[in-house]
Amino acid sequence: MLNLVLFGPPGAGKGTQSQKLIEKFGLIHLSTGDLLRNEISQGTELGLEAKKLMDDGKLVPDAVVIGMISNKLEANKDAKGFIFDGFPRTVAQAEALDSLLESKNSSISGMIALEVTDDELEHRLLLRGESSGRPDDANPEVIRKRIKEYNDKTAPVAGFYKNQSKFESINGIGTIDEIFDQIVSIISSWSEQ
Ligand code: AP5
Repeated sequence: MLNLVLFGPPGAGKGTQSQKLIEKFGLIHLSTGDLLRNEISQGTELGLEAKKLMDDGKLVPDAVVIGMISNKLEANKDAKGFIFDGFPRTVAQAEALDSLLESKNSSISGMIALEVTDDELEHRLLLRGESSGRPDDANPEVIRKRIKEYNDKTAPVAGFYKNQSKFESINGIGTIDEIFDQIVSIISSWSEQ
């Protein structure tokens, strides 16, 4: 089973690369951002609570996202594997994910981090905000808050996987295909081990 954590700050290209990876490897894409936006569009209570935090560039409570991931793992018992995109975003989420997978006799294969400078992130997200209508892409202040939240709370998750010798990082600046080729080459090296 291939279980990949695709990691990186807001706008690093996690969603873009996930779309290509699910085609190539037949994996299930689990994006907590997409799951939360789905709750918002359905107008659920969870969605209404999450929206306030997301629009302000802040993380949603761990219990909420862990619960969503747990449900998705349960609903996809026969999956060939998963791409976790935007999750785990705190060390507590990483610990919970390990426990959830362990209870299914599975584990994370590895984390691949996309390294992108803050200036490039801001440029990409402002550009996307013009067409996507995502409220959290709409202004530079919220984008900077999201990057700060990443640096404060999410960046330490890399250490969690480094300690397990499951961490790889690549330059996330370049063409989408160039970056994809690097990710595929890392995944291929795992299956050779
Ligand atoms: P989420 O939806 O996960 O957003 P994010 O992490 O901020 O990531 P993005 O979707 O903005 O960026 P991405 O890295 O996927 O890049 P993309 O491929 O789209 O989270 C949103 C919010 O939900 C969070 O702020 C938080 O409130 C909440 N949340 C979600 N998960 C949570 C969790 N686990 N715990 C707590 N709260 C949680 O690309 C971005 C743009 O760049 C696109 O326009 C794309 O076309 C372009 N692009 C991509 N690759 C390239 C390239 N190589 N060159 C040039 N442009 C590129």
